[in-house]
Amino acid sequence: MELSQLVVQTCLDGVVLLRVSNPPVNAISTGVRRALLDAVEQADTDSAIRAIVITGAGKSFMAGADIRELGLPAQPPSLPDLCNRIENCAKPVIAAMHGVALGGGLEIALSCHYRLAAEEVKLGLPEVLLGLMPGAGGTQRLPRLIGVESALALMLSGRHVLAKEALLLGIIDRHVLLGDAAAAGVQYAHELLNAGAGVRRSRDAEGLKDHAAAQAFLDEARNVLAKKSRHLFSPHKIVEAVQSALGMAFSEGLTQERAAFLSCLQSPQCEAFTHAFLAERAVSKAPETPGAPPLPVMAVGIVGGGLMGAGIAVSAIDAGLCVRMVEQDDKAAARGLANVEKVFAGQVSKGRITQAGMDSALKRFSVSTDYQSLKDVDLAIEAVFEDMNVKKMVFERLNLTCKPEAVLATNTSYLDIDEIARTVSRPERVIGLHFFSPANIMPLLEIVVAGKTDAQTVSTAFEFAKKLRKVPVRAGVCDGFIGNRVLAVYRAAADHMMEDGASPYQIDRALRDFGFAMGPYQVADLAGGDIGWATRKRRAANRDPNARYVQIPDRLCERGWFGQKTGRGYYLYPQGSRTGEEDPQVLAIIDEERRRVGIEPKRFTDGEIVRRYLAAMINEGANVVFDGIALRPLDVDVTFLHGYGFPRFRGGPMKYADTIGLGKVLADINEFSVADPLFWKPSALLVDLVGRRAGFATLNNALS
Ligand code: COA
Ligand code: NAD
Repeated sequence: MELSQLVVQTCLDGVVLLRVSNPPVNAISTGVRRALLDAVEQADTDSAIRAIVITGAGKSFMAGADIRELGLPAQPPSLPDLCNRIENCAKPVIAAMHGVALGGGLEIALSCHYRLAAEEVKLGLPEVLLGLMPGAGGTQRLPRLIGVESALALMLSGRHVLAKEALLLGIIDRHVLLGDAAAAGVQYAHELLNAGAGVRRSRDAEGLKDHAAAQAFLDEARNVLAKKSRHLFSPHKIVEAVQSALGMAFSEGLTQERAAFLSCLQSPQCEAFTHAFLAERAVSKAPETPGAPPLPVMAVGIVGGGLMGAGIAVSAIDAGLCVRMVEQDDKAAARGLANVEKVFAGQVSKGRITQAGMDSALKRFSVSTDYQSLKDVDLAIEAVFEDMNVKKMVFERLNLTCKPEAVLATNTSYLDIDEIARTVSRPERVIGLHFFSPANIMPLLEIVVAGKTDAQTVSTAFEFAKKLRKVPVRAGVCDGFIGNRVLAVYRAAADHMMEDGASPYQIDRALRDFGFAMGPYQVADLAGGDIGWATRKRRAANRDPNARYVQIPDRLCERGWFGQKTGRGYYLYPQGSRTGEEDPQVLAIIDEERRRVGIEPKRFTDGEIVRRYLAAMINEGANVVFDGIALRPLDVDVTFLHGYGFPRFRGGPMKYADTIGLGKVLADINEFSVADPLFWKPSALLVDLVGRRAGFATLNNALS
């Protein structure tokens, strides 16, 4: 695009309006920086111009640096140079913000002399969410403007603030309630000129005057980070940069900030976070959508009001949809209603919604035992027991009752959706919508496309996910789809290590140290051991008799130790506590099992635990891509980031594999396969990629 198109200029009565135009979000690309610098320099030297207003075209001010340019060699002018030039202007510069003013966008605004914003604006410095930090004066100007406490809180959380809060904090000077921000900016410029107001630079603001208080906030932030963000790189750099703001001259602080910013930019964490950001956008686009616009979904039917049905109902009600639930009898219907009410009541008690909000939400919800209540729904979701015969019966009823175009979805975790689809006369409308528990909270939604599912059904499911603010990942039919299929394999790898000598507590600790939110045995205790036990029993008849099968989990389940809900599982949960304590009796059971199968326990280092667990996850992730169950490796990454607590700063298992090198992963698998060749079979895709010296990323690029 020509530079003149990237910044559109209009001038009236001595005030020039510079409108940045780089759709869709006015990312600050190299071209935008050049064009804005040219325009600012020209305006500053043009004697006919008395004030400059910077704004954004379309829906936004500016959404920050161009994320797609992050890995590329830097091109001049740099964003800090642009910001300094703006701040050094000899005539007043006003930022007029609307939509989003994020990252570099807000840094540009901070280098302007005055700032106003439309009411709905979202302001923030979200760089930390990309493994970065503000690198164009944000860490130096913002604390001077609003003080260390508020500035750190914004930069360390990356959260957005609306105009009202920004005004209170002192980030903006004016808040535009009505009308367009650019016009208000021009009007503000005239008022300033009329009042004889001159330039007013953020670098001269006095927010750091109380040195001792500022230092205390910095010390406190360091303490919190040491506990809560020990794995992360950039938050620590943010604190260092703000420390420079406190102890150094502005220009020196800028130099320190730049050095810290570049160290973040070059860190593997920045690459991983950026991968996650772009992968999330890639998964949200169904390949089918362009050719098959989605059907409107206003009313949703849910069959089954247990744990999942109730959570899905809450999620859909929260999205403003009407929900009709069907249960098998009056008692179960009353329980379904109570389950939904309980979730809302929990939100009221936590202050997330008001009682009036709950009452109005529940007006969109009804429960019945009569399938006729579903005759007008646009989408029906089955969430009954995980039993093929029960599911088939429900689908037969849905087929008879629901309108012909309605989408019929199943929330099954493992069952064959093609087989379910065979029970209806419209298999093209059958799809899997695999929610995760708790369904109103967990962001992941696997959209499982069966053999006969048509394009419109797929695009409707993706649109539905968007309404529910879920992260959709397209999956194919197989036992466990993407997530649970891979989970079964790495969980088995963990069980093998447990039987071979590692304690479940060491395994959990090693994986938490790697960055997982929880280890596999904490997850098992939270989810409830009975679910996995039922699945294992169901699969027992088809299990390969030569495959290794660790019986320790069964020994716990036989005692009724299902985890948190029964007060003990791998851990003890005295008096309903949610933080588990290590249990010597569990260790004794494990020892007993080792003796029974004749295993002499060996020591595992934490590093080896991580190596085996990740190798199992990556290898099965590769199989899932190879079999066409996941579209690309990035779909596996997003599944694990949003459904299985994989550390975001590592980008997902497939991204992590690329980071350490696929050759190393394959070498690990080959090493482990010496002892157990049946379990450790290298994926054909992994072998192929290593042979071609390629990474998983090459398969992402082909499709995104
Ligand atoms: N640079 C480049 N592209 C960006 C971008 C940026 N800073 N921010 C958003 N985009 C792109 C997205 O990749 C997406 O592109 P696609 O349509 O090709 O997939 C498009 O803009 C729309 O973004 P999306 O997130 O789908 O829209 P939204 O309306 O839900 O959210 C934002 C808009 C700006 C709030 C959100 O994209 C965001 O938070 N962006 C990152 C902001 C940021 O971190 N800035 C600091 C960068 S260092
Ligand atoms: P649940 O036992 O809590 O609830 C099932 C509900 O279905 C019960 O309320 C029951 O009364 C009702 N039901 C049974 N037969 C019915 C029928 N014929 N008509 C109407 N209602 C009927 O089970 P859940 O944990 O909510 O699981 C439901 C489904 O979701 C299963 O397929 C499960 O595999 C899947 N799932 C569960 C989880 C999880 O973490 N629990 C996660 C993802 C998916």
